[in-house]
Parts: sequence; structure tokens; C-alpha cells
Amino acid sequence: MKNYVTLLLNWFLENRRELPWRKDINPYHVWISEVMLQQTKIDKVIHYYNNFIQEIPDIKSLSEISDDKLLKLWEGLGYYSRARNLKKAAIMIMNNFHGEFPDNYDSILSLPGIGEYTAGAIASICFQLPEVSVDGNTMRVFCRLYNLDLDISSLQVRKTIASKLRNILPEKSGDFNQAIMELGETICLPNGIPKCSKCPLCYCCQAHVNQNETLIPRKSTRGEKLEEEYTIFLLKYKNKYALHKRQTNLLKNMWEFPNETGFFTYDEIKEKFKDSVYIEMGPTNTHIFSHQKWFMNSYFIEVKKKIDGYVWATIEEINLNYAIPTAFMPFFDYIKTK
Ligand code: ADE
Ligand code: SF4
Repeated sequence: MKNYVTLLLNWFLENRRELPWRKDINPYHVWISEVMLQQTKIDKVIHYYNNFIQEIPDIKSLSEISDDKLLKLWEGLGYYSRARNLKKAAIMIMNNFHGEFPDNYDSILSLPGIGEYTAGAIASICFQLPEVSVDGNTMRVFCRLYNLDLDISSLQVRKTIASKLRNILPEKSGDFNQAIMELGETICLPNGIPKCSKCPLCYCCQAHVNQNETLIPRKSTRGEKLEEEYTIFLLKYKNKYALHKRQTNLLKNMWEFPNETGFFTYDEIKEKFKDSVYIEMGPTNTHIFSHQKWFMNSYFIEVKKKIDGYVWATIEEINLNYAIPTAFMPFFDYIKTK
């Protein structure tokens, strides 16, 4: 089996589409295009992208644009929080990064509206950093190459695929990430119609060799809601509460209170948060999403010092700056009374 990474890179070099944001590797251009592509198909994005760049040519002008003008340029693209986050991020880049788009993964990920997928794309395409960028296309292609019958809506599966991709990531990480996405968008199509006869990987693709390509990836169980149990940690330090930015598809990039799957007993919480000075049980909540049902318990936990890895914010700051999803609202209402 010839090394499919090489086959894929060679295919991309010869077949990459001439897209307006590929004329150079200006991080501003790549950033705007990747955010537009988060929820919208390439054909539709091109026209919006060209208008956007013409009207708002750089980070500084984006940071100064009026909300009305910005939303007007976004009109019809949907998911308007993407546009608002772009401006917020531009302001942050002007204030915190001297107006230069940050060139390391963690700083890129810290910008509003940028999750792991987009951060990986920008870091690899613009700065050749060894980061993967895993979207639905990537997962579909990967599962077919290895004939893996996995449910790609699962976070665990996404993590597994990301780590396997990290192991085979070549030096040209940006080309590799784009090549997989592009193969998924133009050849290795979803819904059972991949064009295997035109695929550069048809001789090494295990799904194709086993005639399984239309069965993979497995459809997630339709109709049935996945039921999950969560424990929410309402961590308080002085007058601030811990927040975490969601990375998973569901409620992506919204802010949540720290939580883990499963229900925890009082003793388990005490053991887990050794630095706590006070613990009590908080409210419970059940939330129904289109494909999931969450059962949530909570604990209110005052800690002696801040725990790393979270943003800490007061109630007023949360009200002003952090979008809390409806599923977590009863817990937010509860801490307002503490
Ligand atoms: N889809 C989203 N981002 C992409 C990229 N950089 N190249 C090809 N397809 C994409
Ligand atoms: Fe996808 Fe077919 Fe290529 Fe396999 S051979 S990667 S299923 S297009």
C-alpha cells in the first residue's frame, strides 16, 4: 500500500481549487474564510467572502466596523453570532496582540468564535504548525480509509480521529488538512455517493476495497435521543465563577459551567475538590436537545484558590460578556442568589 499521505498531498497540489483566500496565506483572509465555512458551503461563501474583504480589508477596520454594517455584510449567511464574534476577536487582536493575528495555537484558540477545528485550520495553513483540523469531512474520509464503522457525532470518536491524524500529520500540515477536507467536499461525498473512481486513494481505501464506502460512516441512531448524565460544578472563588468554552459540536463555542459526565456523590465531590472550603448540592435540570437529553445535577463549591484552565468571571461579567446556553440557565439563576 503506497503511503496515502503522499498520494493525498500530490492530489491536492494538482487539484486544489483556486479559492480567493488561497491567493496568499494572509491569516486575516484565512480566518474570515474559515469562519464563513464553519456552517456554510464553499460555493455560497465565495461571494460573501469577496464582498467582506473588499469592505473590511484588515483586522483594524474590522475592529472599527459598525455593527449595522457588519451584519449587513453577513445578511443571508446565518448564524450571526459568527459575525459578532469576528468583530470581538478583531478588537481583542488590536488590544492584546498589537494588531497582529496571533501565531500560536493557544492564542488563536482563545479568540471568540474560534474552536479547535478553526484554530487547527488557521495554525496549520498560515503558520505551518503541526495541528490537525477535524471537521465532518475529515472524519468521513478517515473512517472510510480505515473501514471504521464509527458514529462520527460522538465526541470520543472525534478525539480518537484527531489523535490518529496527529500521528500521521506530515510537515506540510496545512496542505494535509486542506487536502482531506477538499477530498471530502469534492470526491469522498456524504450520503452514499462517493466518486471512488476519481479518488486518488481508491487502491488503499479499506472501505472501498471492502465495498463498504456507502455504509460508512454509520448514521447516528435517528429518532432516538441519546440520554446523558452530567454533574455541573458551580465553582466560586471570591465573587467569581469558573467558566469553560465548549469545543464539541453541540453548543460549540458557548460558555458553560465546568462539568463531567455521570452523577457524583457528595463524598466524591469532596475528594475531587480537595481545595474547597464549602460544598452544597445545587439544583437539578433536564434539558432536551434535538438529538440528546441531558440529566444534570449540580454542586455549589467554594474553592480556596482559582483552578487553572477556566475563565473566572463575576455575575455581572457573565451577564455582559459570556453567552450561557439555555441548558445551563437554571444554574446561572441559582448562583445569582448565592
Ligand atoms: N472547508 C473548510 N475549510 C476548508 C479549507 N481550508 N479547504 C478546503 N475546504 C474547506
Ligand atoms: Fe472515499 Fe471512495 Fe476515495 Fe475511499 S476510495 S476515500 S470511499 S472516495
